[in-house]
Amino acid sequence: RHVDISPEAASKGGYPHFMIKEIYEQPQAVRDTYEGNVEDPALGRVSSAILSANKVIVVAAGTSYHAGLVFSSLLARRAGILAHTIISSELPYLVDSIDGGDLVIAVSQSGETYDTLEAVRKAKERGAAVVGVTNVLGSALDRESQLRLYTRAGPEIGVAATKTFLSQVMLLELLSIRAGEASGRLRPSEANELLRALREVPQVLANTLEASDPVATALSKGLSGSAYILGRGLGAAIAREGALKVKEIAYVHAEAYPAGESKHGPIALVERGFPVFIVATSDAREVAGNAVEMAARGARVYVVKPADLGLELEGRESITRIDMPPSSGVLELEPFILTPLFQLLSYRVAVSRGYNPDKPRNLAKTVTVE
Ligand code: AGP
Repeated sequence: RHVDISPEAASKGGYPHFMIKEIYEQPQAVRDTYEGNVEDPALGRVSSAILSANKVIVVAAGTSYHAGLVFSSLLARRAGILAHTIISSELPYLVDSIDGGDLVIAVSQSGETYDTLEAVRKAKERGAAVVGVTNVLGSALDRESQLRLYTRAGPEIGVAATKTFLSQVMLLELLSIRAGEASGRLRPSEANELLRALREVPQVLANTLEASDPVATALSKGLSGSAYILGRGLGAAIAREGALKVKEIAYVHAEAYPAGESKHGPIALVERGFPVFIVATSDAREVAGNAVEMAARGARVYVVKPADLGLELEGRESITRIDMPPSSGVLELEPFILTPLFQLLSYRVAVSRGYNPDKPRNLAKTVTVE
């Protein structure tokens, strides 16, 4: 029997691809990120900067942008502060609104993404202070930043951002809790309770991976053509990340948008059998209405939700409930409970159709050009 002992096979640690290895490394990545940051005074310094800033602007690209959307959703809820989350390559067209009192939080796992670095440089020229959130110590973003926060995901080789995404989510959640505490909106006891819940994420995530993989394998057989992935609030951010994974790894056209927008155009495309995934989070039970609406148009609706989130789905047969581990209504846990299904779905589709999930066509791990 031929045994592959090439350095590449060895570094995959027994997994067939880096992507699946990195998906399964997520419990460790979020644990390391939690432990490395929860007591770090840098988190307090960035929270103070957020509270004293005129405007808080988050810049990022791709998956990191989605982590930025999770952050702005939670920062609004916990600290009552609106952060403007902007795609890095769009910042140049808005830069005239930035000035010296503003804080720019740049999120980039590599710290080398051209668009994000350009956005940071332009914001700095306008006098804004910059916080860099990266997975790579000593990266260009790290060097450009006045304040620095680090995820601790370890190296990510697969082109798809997986463990770096949930590590960014973990870090930015810690930041929103600290900012909530500093703002006086969260009592210290409430903040501690959220931090205690986040400490359980590695276990929650391990349970989630176990629950998600068989569902992903089953769903992967029927996914082709195109699909909608919808959510509201926090769920809208998770939906966007899910759709990006499905597009780039499974080569299936998935479009995500806030579920409330359905009626403003996209529902016209829905016909019998059209797949619609609904990402249901505890801040937005109203998605139940959107699910029912889509089902009434004949869509094949899958509602992905924490098992204990009650939704009024009126028993429609074409709605499939996909129950993930419970969140006890702790919103901060829900990105960890609802994201892996889409990572695994895109991976299982790719592998079953013979695509290389580690190196999707036309993509580079880090985009260092304009
Ligand atoms: C997502 O799977 C991609 N790898 C891509 O969208 C990525 O998140 C984006 O290019 C930003 O990279 P960065 O976090 O290194 O800046």
